[in-house]
Amino acid sequence: MNEMTAQARTVVRRRIPIDDGRWVTIRPIERSDASGLSDFYARLSPESRRMRFLGSGPPPDGDLLRAFAQDAEGFVGILSERGPRDGAVAAHASVQSVGDGKAEIAFAVADELQGRGIGRQLMSMALELAQARGLRTATATLLAENVPMRRLVQRANRSIVADHLDAGVEEITLSLVPAA
Ligand SMILES: CC(C)(COP(=O)(O)OP(=O)(O)OC[C@H]1O[C@@H](n2cnc3c(N)ncnc32)[C@H](O)[C@@H]1OP(=O)(O)O)[C@@H](O)C(=O)NCCC(=O)NCCS
Repeated sequence: MNEMTAQARTVVRRRIPIDDGRWVTIRPIERSDASGLSDFYARLSPESRRMRFLGSGPPPDGDLLRAFAQDAEGFVGILSERGPRDGAVAAHASVQSVGDGKAEIAFAVADELQGRGIGRQLMSMALELAQARGLRTATATLLAENVPMRRLVQRANRSIVADHLDAGVEEITLSLVPAA
């Protein structure tokens, strides 16, 4: 278990009600989530995949999915329902330490579950994880037209210390260091 995994497991799980009898439980990602993540990204609409990976293209390949799950950095949302999708991965937050006190964060929520507050919870848990690890900034990279993602970043209760827009791709950096 690497340091990030140990930190992730100290973060409390969160349960988000969806509707009568359905909820999503957000928990730290585990190695065994690789195949659930593969199904999740394969089911994500082309438009959501374009927003997540900043361009059109096939679902992420096995190497990337293994990196998400085996490095165990981040969180998955698991759907609970009385139905065929019970136990499916329905959301993913990636928190990657890239050195020099910096984290890169990225999120995806199943199309049919977007707009219900899951992204907001993922954002708060991802920032807590990065902060608990002693990282100083977290950067989200998004297509400039991605209104929900920009809202998530702007409402994360952290100060924005950098915001760069280049060729339709925006990088917004949040401070993880509490203001003095
Ligand atoms: C971006 C994403 C992760 C947000 O997750 P979510 O669960 O839909 O987000 P929430 O329900 O917590 O809403 C977050 C904010 O976006 C707003 N929002 C959600 N859907 C919206 C829409 N279609 N249009 C405008 N605003 C929207 C919400 O109102 C909320 O803002 P508020 O706090 O001011 O009310 C999700 O939409 C997604 O997976 N998109 C595709 C992948 C992607 O874009 N990833 C980001 C790049 S890393």
